[in-house]
Amino acid sequence: MSEKDHNVSRRQFLTYTLTGVGGFMAAGVVLPMARFAIDPVLQTTGEGDMHAVTEVSELTDEPQRFDFSYEQEDAWYTSETTNSAWIYLDGDDIVALSPVCTHLGCTVNWNSNENHPNEFFCPCHGGRFEKDGTNVAGTPPTEPLHRYKVEVRDGTVYLGKAEPQI
Ligand code: FES
Repeated sequence: MSEKDHNVSRRQFLTYTLTGVGGFMAAGVVLPMARFAIDPVLQTTGEGDMHAVTEVSELTDEPQRFDFSYEQEDAWYTSETTNSAWIYLDGDDIVALSPVCTHLGCTVNWNSNENHPNEFFCPCHGGRFEKDGTNVAGTPPTEPLHRYKVEVRDGTVYLGKAEPQI
């Protein structure tokens, strides 16, 4: 290679310099805007949040339905969400089950069908669940009711996300 090949012309120097400076300035403008635009998506969804539902003193060994509301942030949108849980005492344990049938999502009720006492019953297709949420064989649901994560703080029962039991 000759020495001439290594020389950079004034035009090339200006082109490289202006391209570099222009790119740097553009990045300084575009990157903060992009970050601002996608920031809500990068935030945690709040799924790990715990919500106060009732007092431990309200619970018995019979499942009772409790409704609870909280604000849910979903990217740019905040909405009031209402959930329900069937909660009962199992010795020292607190069991909180989702009322959503694991067949097709109807709402189950406790002890509501006289032919199947002391079970959760789904009126849509006759799905049945035992007290601990286990699905009764031979009925449409193929998995147990989902179970909420439970915490007790100062006598108040907090529920987290309902998760599959299997
Ligand atoms: S939705 Fe509950 S049995 Fe079908």
